[in-house]
Amino acid sequence: MGYAVTAEAGANIAFVKYWGNRRQGKNLPLNPSISMTLASCVTRTTVELSETAGQDHIILGETSPGEKARHRIEAFLDQVRTLAAREERARVFSTNSFPGGCGIASSASGFAALAVAATVAYGLNLKARDLTRAARLGSGSAARSILGGFVELKPGARHEDAYAVQLEPESHWPELRDLIVIVSEQEKEVSSAEGHRIAHTSEMLAGRLDAIPSRAERIRQAIEQRDLARLGEAAEEDALSMHAVMMTSTPPLLYWHPGTLDVIRLVWTMRKENVKAYFTIDAGPNVHVLTTEEHLTEVEGRIRRRLGFQTIADRPGPGARIVERRAS
Ligand code: PMV
Repeated sequence: MGYAVTAEAGANIAFVKYWGNRRQGKNLPLNPSISMTLASCVTRTTVELSETAGQDHIILGETSPGEKARHRIEAFLDQVRTLAAREERARVFSTNSFPGGCGIASSASGFAALAVAATVAYGLNLKARDLTRAARLGSGSAARSILGGFVELKPGARHEDAYAVQLEPESHWPELRDLIVIVSEQEKEVSSAEGHRIAHTSEMLAGRLDAIPSRAERIRQAIEQRDLARLGEAAEEDALSMHAVMMTSTPPLLYWHPGTLDVIRLVWTMRKENVKAYFTIDAGPNVHVLTTEEHLTEVEGRIRRRLGFQTIADRPGPGARIVERRAS
């Protein structure tokens, strides 16, 4: 008899972005990154071991993943099996609470939920810090989704050095909101894995890496003091700096659509009118607008009315957790 273990994990939005890997593999980030784990955009993943299956069986949503995604998940399961010194193959079922192709990175919540469910299913009892390292092997940003609230992923040249820590729990700043503006539902053409690899080709990378320590410190303080203006200004700066690196890589990566710029401009107009909103953008065209509960209705209403985009409002959420264990 085996176990089916189900875990849930929230996506996250980074205020200081992770962009660029060390060359030795294992998703070792070049810079520290800081994010907020989200409450509503959640992946739920069940892992069940099979004594008899000759290969892993993976279902994402209703369907089998494409070849690239399947290899990435199998490679991740191989690392968990090595760690646990076990050989059984696994059945993996995973669903997202947020619509596919809505521009929310599912790799962070996906690999965080998989890391928790798979390590428990294979009999490992990892401490939180080790779990963040394990999730990082699937996707760098997944390390941050292991923990709730406000989280920092430390960079490092070795596997042991690159792990995530919680800066503050989700209860620290419950009024903070991330309004996700869906500019386009298209799948992105260039994955972040490829982007991390070519970041080195940008002439802007060195300048970005020099600027990050003091920006990260401003963001840590802004979180500690719950200071939206300080957080938002630094997060906007960091998003623009990351996208400058992307645009100046070889080949160039331009994730923005015309609608991305429309949201940026509207956010700046709102600020002039004293509506507190700040933007950040991941590796895609969609925009995350940082605001507070107090300004949310106004910000959401203006973006929907003026630009016609769909939005999803989210808030600080808990870390990855086991939600069910049953004998199978
Ligand atoms: O974890 P990855 O490889 O999908 O990289 C995440 C990259 C960004 O979302 C653009 C930035 C971040 O820190 O989340």
